[in-house]
Amino acid sequence: MIRLEDLHKTFLVKDKRTHAQRRIEAVRGISLEVGPGEIYGLLGPNGAGKSTTLRMIAGLMRPDRGRIEVCGVDTVRRPEEARALVGYLSTDLGVYSRFTPRELLRLFGEFQGLDARVAERRGMHLLEELDLMDFADVRMEGFSGGQKQKVSIARALLHDPRVVIFDEPTTGLDVLTAKTVLDLLRVMKAEGRAVVVSTHVMPMVEAICDRVGIIFDGGLHGDAPPREILARWGVGSLDEVFFKLAEARA
Ligand SMILES: Nc1ncnc2c1ncn2[C@@H]1O[C@H](COP(=O)(O)OP(=O)(O)OP(=O)(O)O)[C@@H](O)[C@H]1O
Ligand SMILES: [Mg+2]
Repeated sequence: MIRLEDLHKTFLVKDKRTHAQRRIEAVRGISLEVGPGEIYGLLGPNGAGKSTTLRMIAGLMRPDRGRIEVCGVDTVRRPEEARALVGYLSTDLGVYSRFTPRELLRLFGEFQGLDARVAERRGMHLLEELDLMDFADVRMEGFSGGQKQKVSIARALLHDPRVVIFDEPTTGLDVLTAKTVLDLLRVMKAEGRAVVVSTHVMPMVEAICDRVGIIFDGGLHGDAPPREILARWGVGSLDEVFFKLAEARA
């Protein structure tokens, strides 16, 4: 359902003080596949290239090299079609505080050309699943971080995407709210969607991910079920895999 083949992405950044240009090789040759009904966990330290990879899958950024296919659609050649297939949650929550969740979802339904009644039904169903129905008609200006996150999640899933790409969906959430989000991801899995989720929360990975890939220095390590990864490295936790990778680099 999702197929990445030898993805590369380099950024050129300029140091404002010295005017020197620097190349940041954010993604160096990542290949992976995620099937229907599978949850893939993408791990890696800060700046490893997780968000960059997810943005490329969502069709929001072009790779310099490599191929990405989502349900057989090439996201570089047919980005609009790909975007219709993908529900993408980014780490910066784009909620308009003057709107209520219902109004925001209605607006996004219109943007995506959805039938108004279908969008309303699905939007309210998602708010229900996320335990936010009581706030459906409250302006979002006073919303907590977790409430905003839930609205962003509902927005990402409104168009019933077959592929779900969530960048750090539980960061900053309390354990109860995080569980609500994980339960929703389990529903996505049961419905046969392909899910890729990036996170720093290891217990979450162990709880819901079928397979895990660790991006380290731009390359992908692991790419196996969590338990298999622990056995392969001979460690008791995924944190220790990070430490081993860091040691190997030093
Ligand atoms: N638009 C951009 N322009 C320039 N550099 C970028 C851009 N996007 C990402 N980078 C750089 O690419 C590298 C990878 O960034 P990315 O956001 O993918 O990391 P990440 O794994 O998501 O990290 P985190 O865990 O902190 O979210 C970083 O060094 C970052 O500074
Ligand atoms: Mg990131």
